[in-house]
Amino acid sequence: MYDLDERIALVTGAASGIGRAIALRLAQEGCHVGLVDTAEAGLRETARSIEALGRKTCLVVADVTERHNVDRAVARLTETLGTADILVNSAGILRVGAMLDQPYEDFARQFRVNVDGTFHVCQAVVPAMVAKGRGAVINLSSWLGKKGMKLYGGYAASKFAVIGMTQALALEVAAFGVRVNALCPGLIVETGMRDQAEALHRSLGLPSAEERVSTIPRGRLGKPDDIARVAAFLASDEADFMTGQAVNVTGGFWLN
Ligand SMILES: NC(=O)c1ccc[n+]([C@@H]2O[C@H](COP(=O)([O-])OP(=O)(O)OC[C@H]3O[C@@H](n4cnc5c(N)ncnc54)[C@H](O)[C@@H]3O)[C@@H](O)[C@H]2O)c1
Repeated sequence: MYDLDERIALVTGAASGIGRAIALRLAQEGCHVGLVDTAEAGLRETARSIEALGRKTCLVVADVTERHNVDRAVARLTETLGTADILVNSAGILRVGAMLDQPYEDFARQFRVNVDGTFHVCQAVVPAMVAKGRGAVINLSSWLGKKGMKLYGGYAASKFAVIGMTQALALEVAAFGVRVNALCPGLIVETGMRDQAEALHRSLGLPSAEERVSTIPRGRLGKPDDIARVAAFLASDEADFMTGQAVNVTGGFWLN
């Protein structure tokens, strides 16, 4: 366990999958957690689980691609819980398609959510961290933020961009006591995005996640809690000397 008692966390993409697991883990570690997502039912379920842990929570249904929505959400969460000590940008989407065939709208939508969304939320939240001289930001990239893959060109490009933003912001705010790191998960099941990818792989006759287990040195697929445990570490003072990193959590599947 990390000592995160009474810290305030803000998690986007908290209605399901990795974002939900991180929100719950941070609550278990003692945080009060603000939740943002477009999916209201899922957000409510996450909020109920946090309340059951005896922690405060507040949810705002908001689309991170719209700056005014982000500002509204952050204002509401700050008013209810206080300024954030921890920010997790987990909201993300995947639109699979070959580089030469993918409709531009699908390609660009991934940038609007994965890149612009992370940018807007950082701009809305990080200045208060700088002002109080403390903060930890965790951006969800991917192993595909370090390596391209057939049919995942737009997604990979957006996740490379997340690492670039993470490094730049880390350098800009390091002297103010704010750390910024990215997480690069491998194949993580039990998430909305993985279900979507699996359905597509089935329809195209591509190997399923289960069929790719033999390529994962740890011999199993990842679960959202595998990512959440590392996120809790990065959010904690135990990671005080880590910033600007893009940390692989892939069971050894991707090493660079
Ligand atoms: N599952 C994996 O294998 C995997 C691997 C590497 C990286 N990731 C990354 O982890 C993060 C979480 O993904 P997940 O696998 O848990 O998928 P998920 O679909 O379960 O979670 C993503 C969440 O983001 C929310 N969201 C989407 N667009 C939004 C928007 N415009 N505004 C606010 N919320 C929005 C969704 O409603 C959803 O709740 C993503 O950034 C994803 O790219 C996932």
